[in-house]
Amino acid sequence: MDFNTNAEYAIAARGVRKTYGGSGMAPEKEALKGVDILVKRGSIFGLLGPNGAGKSTFINILAGLVNKTAGEVSVWGFDIDRNPRQARASLGVVPQEINMDVFFTPLEALEIQAGLYGVPKNKRRSMEILNALGLGDKANAYVRMLSGGMKRRLLVAKAMVHSPPILILDEPTAGVDIELRKQLWEYVLKLHEMGVTIVLTTHYLEEAQELCEEIAIIHNGNVVACEPTEKLISSLDRKTLMVTPSEAVDIKPDLGPLEFEMKSDGSLAIAYQPSKTQVADILERLSGAGIAVKDLSTVEADLEDVFLELTYRAE
Ligand SMILES: Nc1ncnc2c1ncn2[C@@H]1O[C@H](COP(=O)(O)OP(=O)(O)OP(=O)(O)O)[C@@H](O)[C@H]1O
Ligand SMILES: [Mg+2]
Repeated sequence: MDFNTNAEYAIAARGVRKTYGGSGMAPEKEALKGVDILVKRGSIFGLLGPNGAGKSTFINILAGLVNKTAGEVSVWGFDIDRNPRQARASLGVVPQEINMDVFFTPLEALEIQAGLYGVPKNKRRSMEILNALGLGDKANAYVRMLSGGMKRRLLVAKAMVHSPPILILDEPTAGVDIELRKQLWEYVLKLHEMGVTIVLTTHYLEEAQELCEEIAIIHNGNVVACEPTEKLISSLDRKTLMVTPSEAVDIKPDLGPLEFEMKSDGSLAIAYQPSKTQVADILERLSGAGIAVKDLSTVEADLEDVFLELTYRAE
């Protein structure tokens, strides 16, 4: 990894550690154990990991909400220790917890936020942002009257008032219904097209697989994988060949060393490692067992398989 060309990266973190001090009966907790993460400018980057892995801790360090114990972090080229103000101004963070002053209207909340960031009145885009997030008609309602999903979208709006080059979303779709999730991601993708770098954590693996160009998996405070999504998935050397025989197979055929499962619809699900076995070999075994093939398809491993494999292996 090259940390000297930070300009290439929206976020460059090296050797980041965080130990939370214990209090009372609670012992100390080492939440991050030396995390290296590079996020390319303009990319959509996913941060995944089970509950308690350290994702929010990492994000909160970037945002200046948690002090790291050790390591170096730069945000948009600004070192968070030496240039904390510029670093913080370079990102908008949508926190995992909803904490908002419920006595303002969404429009007021955005105007206040814009004021905090020193955005001049003639440069403010509060209504535009609310409209983009489907909150235009709620601009003057009280925040306490918004639904949970609307509050979450308002948090995204708040994170964008100062037009930061980086948007960080910590579990933005938790508790948001499917329709609103779609809307939220559409907005995020629009920002991405405009060149905004997006970092997100999500527990919905399909979401991460669909959206993120690169993914880091954190487990117990360590990065256990950090790669382009495609590569991460293909690094799991596992595929399944689904075979529909021309005639129903009722006794278990002898396919030698191949691992397979007979499905109730009469098809065979044959698991194989593409690096070791070729589909042609499998077909040969099938024909050797007297099975004629009517149809076949392959099923790739997905992010869920990779995730489970990596987090279990790390245990
Ligand atoms: N303020 C704190 N004081 C002490 N321990 C903390 C604090 N915040 C988090 N932790 C601990 O640090 C570890 C990492 O927590 P963190 O919130 O970063 O996880 P996460 O990956 O965001 O999990 P989740 O998916 O549940 O949001 C956990 O063991 C958690 O209990
Ligand atoms: Mg979290």
